[in-house]
Amino acid sequence: MTSSEIRQQFLDFFKSKEHTIVPSAPIVVKNDPTLLFINSGMAPFKDYFLGNKPAPHKRIADTQKCLRVSGKHNDLEEVGVDTYHHTMFEMLGNWSFGDYFKKEAIAWSWELLTEVYKLDKDKLYVTVFEGDEKEGLSFDQEAYDEWKKYIAEDRILKGNKKDNFWEMGDTGPCGPCSEIHVDCRSEEERKTVNGADLVNADHPQVIEIWNNVFMEFNRLKDGSLQKLPAQHVDTGMGFERLVRVLQSKQSNYDTDVFTGTIAAIEKITKQTYDRSDSKEAVAFRVLSDHIRAISFTIADGQLPSNTGAGYVIRRILRRAVRYYYSYLGYKSPLLFQLIPTIAAQFEQVFPELKQQEDFVTKVIREEEDAFLRTLEKGLKKMDDIIEKEKNSKLIGGKEAFELYDTYGFPLDLTRLIAVENELNVDEKGFEAEMLEQKNRSRKATAIDAEDWTVLKDAAKTSFVGYDDLNIMTQVVKYRKVTAKNKEQFQIVLEATPFYAESGGQVGDRGVLVFGTEEIEVTDTKKENDLIIHFADKLPADINAEVNAKVDFEKRLFTMYNHTATHLLHAALKQVLGAHVNQKGSLVNEDILRFDVSHFAKVTDEELKLVMAIVNQKIRENIPVVIKEMPKEEALKSGAMALFGEKYGDTVRVVTIDPEFSVELCGGTHVGYTGMLGSFVITAESAVAAGVRRIEALTGGAAFRYFADRVEQTKVLVELLKTKDPIKTIEKLLEDKAALEKKVEAYEAKELALVAKALASKAEEVNGVQYLGQHIEVSSLDALKKVAFDMKLHLKNYLVVLTANIGGKASVAIAIEDALATAKDLDAGKIIKQHIAPLIKGGGGGQKALATAGGQDVSQLNEVLAVVKSLL
Ligand code: ALA
Repeated sequence: MTSSEIRQQFLDFFKSKEHTIVPSAPIVVKNDPTLLFINSGMAPFKDYFLGNKPAPHKRIADTQKCLRVSGKHNDLEEVGVDTYHHTMFEMLGNWSFGDYFKKEAIAWSWELLTEVYKLDKDKLYVTVFEGDEKEGLSFDQEAYDEWKKYIAEDRILKGNKKDNFWEMGDTGPCGPCSEIHVDCRSEEERKTVNGADLVNADHPQVIEIWNNVFMEFNRLKDGSLQKLPAQHVDTGMGFERLVRVLQSKQSNYDTDVFTGTIAAIEKITKQTYDRSDSKEAVAFRVLSDHIRAISFTIADGQLPSNTGAGYVIRRILRRAVRYYYSYLGYKSPLLFQLIPTIAAQFEQVFPELKQQEDFVTKVIREEEDAFLRTLEKGLKKMDDIIEKEKNSKLIGGKEAFELYDTYGFPLDLTRLIAVENELNVDEKGFEAEMLEQKNRSRKATAIDAEDWTVLKDAAKTSFVGYDDLNIMTQVVKYRKVTAKNKEQFQIVLEATPFYAESGGQVGDRGVLVFGTEEIEVTDTKKENDLIIHFADKLPADINAEVNAKVDFEKRLFTMYNHTATHLLHAALKQVLGAHVNQKGSLVNEDILRFDVSHFAKVTDEELKLVMAIVNQKIRENIPVVIKEMPKEEALKSGAMALFGEKYGDTVRVVTIDPEFSVELCGGTHVGYTGMLGSFVITAESAVAAGVRRIEALTGGAAFRYFADRVEQTKVLVELLKTKDPIKTIEKLLEDKAALEKKVEAYEAKELALVAKALASKAEEVNGVQYLGQHIEVSSLDALKKVAFDMKLHLKNYLVVLTANIGGKASVAIAIEDALATAKDLDAGKIIKQHIAPLIKGGGGGQKALATAGGQDVSQLNEVLAVVKSLL
């Protein structure tokens, strides 16, 4: 069976058990401060387990793209070294939301594995939770009894909390679980050592393939377990492992999930993958694994960057580059060449990559290029360090860490090069530096949230802010959070007019009025589907009815900018082409900033055209029509495909003339485009490979922008006494350049005279013609030129000239070439070692000519004395 068939059989099986099959949610998580990436099949459904939101179906199954490289579940260092851990992997899962429980989950997992996939029953083991006294949890007798119906009791093993109590993160839904393990060893090996002893013992051939979690609890911040409102089933089967077992392979990388990519790497590098533990083989596995994580996260909307989720992607990409650079001897971008293979392979199940193939390819290529340049620089840095430490024979912890942190060198690469040069590396020192940095970043980002204090049970809180900006409501719950040493309060209301930051639009500000007490809302954000109001204090009577009032003006200006963003997007598509897609946006009360995929600078002509179109649409005063519908229906109706929603989301379709702009958008908009007044683009720049940023203004801000420019022109016309200031300024600039040339010529003549006059002041010191003088010149260049010109007048000389140039201490030293060589004199070194520190500045140059500039003009006499005494 091919991997596609195996995946399809899973989905078909659960469809036959009345599950709704849904597409994978995007791998990049939005609106959840506890999670950067989806790390298990259940993560997109977190709210259904917690009871924050009703599930759209009682039974769901899917294959979910997951990434385990940050947070509680992190496998990165294992990947490629072994044959069964991955960065991105697919998790096949079936869920019951308050519907079936242990009996059905266990029966169906057994049926699928043994009757559909026809796995040998003698190779299977299952585990159940043994209980935990400290947590007050008892042995999972129910699961044990269910398993007994299908499998011999000596194959039902008891497991502890670490292995058999599954938790999504430090907090959140959790429960006892029951795992299914497969023993893939040879017949002979299975006879000698009992498979039961190898379950959960890190044996590469005795592996877990499926986990059935019986969700019953919510782990709270204080460590306690709270019973969930209902009992659920959450299962996860590692797709790549399942395929390996069913295709009877020793390694996930030998299945058809990976062999296509590995063949592509073989072709590109002209090397052969030999399946061994060698560095080369590890590199093959690393590349074929990492490219999946990198390409799918970019396709799901996360660009590589220097912070957060973007930084995780960048690190994975760099790890891959280092492997091909160091171990496959491939020194130019490679990963991007693998995209066609992957995009085609996954087109049916995850079409988002194929649909954005060009874009993803270009982003990856550019990232690789940039990092390869950094790597080269790192190698040069390494040469410097080796030279510097040639006596100590030790690369210090700080140096190794700098190589790691700034140049992306992992410790093993540093070690490798060090050994080649007969040096050691202070690895303990390196680890210490690493720990310190981790502590620093933890302190900078740690958010300490207390548990919620719940005042009112509310199954669902609602947002009414599309229509109302001022309502009466009640507090549902609140808590204190501390971030960066700042205390804040988070308040959840039963209904709220406050828009929470999302889709690029900033959160609303405003006030909550409790009786006579007014509490300021400084920001509004989402945590999954919860709308959270931030305040610096709590009211005296939090149980009172509250009047929630949004800052109207801020919201209105923000709405102008959001509607303008849609007009801009549509106009860009018209002018630049259909490949233009939104890659990010910021909409607030002052500006709009819009990032789009486009591979060249947007020219002035194009920008003018875009502005003209948007302003035309404003003048047409088109109604902005908004409809809510399920995501699937919206996609059918032809709205732009956006890769950020997950199944079950209700989306809003915002239409500004069906022929012009139709977008999925949760933001707030004005009723008619005419309200924007006018629109102006103020900047265009590059933000990342293949992504351009456009900044613009609307309404009053756009008007002021125009008015300022009109005023400026008026001033220019008056100042220059001309009707055509541009022409006049062009003429002035031309004249200025001509004059500068003339002045330079005069100055050169004058400097030659100065040099000649100075020559007569040279004196003999220690057999050398020494000239030390303070002179007056207008620039350091002039000073340098006089020093240089002394060769026309003197022999066997050392010249030091000082000047006070506009309050800056300036020094030039010139030494005759022959003298410099004979007496081992070096003007550059003298400047660096003796002069620059003396005048509190810097400088440098060559053996024969060097200059310095500094702050301390009072030391210029001393400069002359020092150089003379050196002689
Ligand atoms: N959520 C469970 C896991 O990831 C199924 O193992």
